[in-house]
Amino acid sequence: MTSRPIYLDHQATTPLDPRALEEMMPFLTTAYGNPNSAHPYGREAAKAVGDARRRVAHLIGAKNPVQVVFTSGATEANHLAIVGGALAKRAHGGHIVTTAIEHKAVLAAVQRLVDHHGYTATSVAVDAHGRVHPGDIAAALTPNTVLVSVMHANNEIGTLQRIAVISQLTTHRGILLHTDAAQSAGYGLFDADELGVDLASLSAHKLYGPMGVGALYVRGGTLLVAQQTGGGQECGLRAGTLNVPAIVGFGAAAHLITSDTSPALTQIRALRDRLQDQLLDAIPGATVNGHPTRRLPGILSLTLPDAEAADVLEHLPDIAAATGSACNTGTSAPSHVLTAIGLTRPQARRTLRLGIGRTTTATEVERAVALIAQAAARHRPARSSAV
Ligand SMILES: Cc1ncc(COP(=O)(O)O)c(C=O)c1O
Repeated sequence: MTSRPIYLDHQATTPLDPRALEEMMPFLTTAYGNPNSAHPYGREAAKAVGDARRRVAHLIGAKNPVQVVFTSGATEANHLAIVGGALAKRAHGGHIVTTAIEHKAVLAAVQRLVDHHGYTATSVAVDAHGRVHPGDIAAALTPNTVLVSVMHANNEIGTLQRIAVISQLTTHRGILLHTDAAQSAGYGLFDADELGVDLASLSAHKLYGPMGVGALYVRGGTLLVAQQTGGGQECGLRAGTLNVPAIVGFGAAAHLITSDTSPALTQIRALRDRLQDQLLDAIPGATVNGHPTRRLPGILSLTLPDAEAADVLEHLPDIAAATGSACNTGTSAPSHVLTAIGLTRPQARRTLRLGIGRTTTATEVERAVALIAQAAARHRPARSSAV
């Protein structure tokens, strides 16, 4: 059997933890009840969903499991939070504040409010490390502002935002604060209560759970207009029969993060630092994007001095990594995140995103460094043609 490429794309998705799969299996086979059914099959499924809800709530510091609304992923959670949250506040105003480096699901939800519901939106710039300054958020607020959406951790450069400081600006003005925590929750770095957010989006497949399931944290008392109506599931906030096996897998994955005693986070950070240091040594002129310290432990955004990232990866079949974000794959436009932190378009196109995960080994890191350094040297264009 040929060996599989070294997987360095943990921001795009993480492998399903076999322990989560094991917990899911009965719900894919014998325990097939609909949690809304009032017979033993239904009750069995409803109990499993309740357990998963408690586990996800525990992971994100939600005081009450009912604050966890299951969705199909963070994309849907972002739409429910932003469109649903803003529409519920329509009587109070029609202005949204967000940042220049949000995930496209957030930007699209905001755009929907602008295009179809008559809202206005302000996009706040970030600094060269990808950090938004709370003072700039404060300056963007108007008496008409009803919702602020600032991601907790960025999926391309890993920078963490000062959400707790921003919540001090929004709470006393009665403005909803939403954060996209899809990338940070898997490290156990996200605590909804501590950060003071009203709404937070999660995705199971970013934290070693299955694809196609996520959640929206909804602080008690926060009103939302449901975006999908029908059978009244999830307290009327998200209709549709629950994806029980996936929800069970999500709960199991959340539980592994809160109960795992293995030093996954420390190990991931150490491997990322090793990857970073060795690549910087091996490729003179390479630079790292994102905040030097306030950054997700597993991510390395590296701008190469000359070679285009897409060329390098195309000729590196032994490495699975990304240029910018996976959602940008197939588009030739440089990443909006990288240009927002001040990279030129050619620099953005020379940027690789490498993501370490729980199963990455030191041997894989060593090999990746050698392969990437070689490829970067091979794809160095003639100096005269460099832009
Ligand atoms: C920050 C962020 N938000 C939202 C999403 C979308 O998540 P999902 O795939 O669960 O819809 C992603 C994944 O690409 C992400 O990284």
